[in-house]
Amino acid sequence: MDNRPIGVFDSGLGGLTAVKELLEILPQENIIYFGDTGRVPYGSRSRETILKYAAQDIHFLKENRVKLIVAACGTVSSVIGGAGQELGLPFVDVLHPTALAASKATRNKRVGVIGTTATIRSGSYRRALAEIDPSIVVYDRDCPLFVPLVENGFVDPEDPVPRMVAERYLTELRDAGVDTLIMGCTHYPIISRVIGAVMGRDVTLIDSGRETAFFCGELLREQGLLCDRQTAGDCSFYVSDHVENFSHIAGIFLGRNVDQDVRQIDIDRY
Ligand code: DGL
Repeated sequence: MDNRPIGVFDSGLGGLTAVKELLEILPQENIIYFGDTGRVPYGSRSRETILKYAAQDIHFLKENRVKLIVAACGTVSSVIGGAGQELGLPFVDVLHPTALAASKATRNKRVGVIGTTATIRSGSYRRALAEIDPSIVVYDRDCPLFVPLVENGFVDPEDPVPRMVAERYLTELRDAGVDTLIMGCTHYPIISRVIGAVMGRDVTLIDSGRETAFFCGELLREQGLLCDRQTAGDCSFYVSDHVENFSHIAGIFLGRNVDQDVRQIDIDRY
C-alpha cells in the first residue's frame, strides 16, 4: 500500500480527461495535477523544447513526492521514448493503453488517429498500432486548432466555430471509412461531442485520457501501490499561468467547483 499522491501532467487542460476518470475509478487516491497553461500548446513545438518542458513538469511532480507519474499528454508521450522508464518511479504515458483499446475496438481494421502536429509527425501511434496488429491500416491527421479552441472555452457542441474546424479536419478520415478514431491528444475528448457529430455514430472514439487512467488503476493494483485510505482523496491542481481560465473550464469539465484547489507556480524554478 502506498498513500503518496498520483502525479499527472499535461500542457494545459487536456490531462483532466485522465483525472476525471481516475477520480471515478480510484476515488480514494490523492492526485496532484500540473497543467502548463503558461506554455501551452506543446504540440507545435520542437522535440527539444517539448522534452525540456516535460523534464520540468516531471521535476515538479517528483518534488511533490508522487508515487506514479502520468504523462497525460499525447505530445509528450510521443516524443519521450524510453526516457520515461528511467525516472526511478513508475511512469505511464498514453500511447500503449490507447493503441491497445483502438486495436480491440476496430472491426474493419481502419483506424484514424488525430493529434497535435508533433504527435502525428512522430509516427508514434502508427508504430504502436503496427506492433499490436500489423494488419491495421492507419489514417492520421494533425488538428492544431483543436487545442486553442479547448483552452479558450470553445467546447459547446452547438457552437458553429468548433464544428466548422472539425469538419475541415475530419472529413477525409470519415471518407476513408475508419470505424475507430483515436483522439490522440488528451484535449480532444473535451470536444468529443463535436468530433462525434462529424464522424458519425458508427465510429468509435477512443479517449486517450480515459484509457490511460484505466491502465494506471491496473498498474497500481498489480504493483501493490494503491492507497489504503477509506475516505475520498484530495485533488490539487497547479498551473503555470493565472488560475481563472483553468478553474472555470476545469470546473465545467470535472463537474465540480475547483476554484479553491488551483494554485499558480513558477515552472521555471524546476
Ligand atoms: N494535451 C496534449 C496532448 O495530448 C497537448 C496539446 C498541446 O499542448 O499541444 O498532446
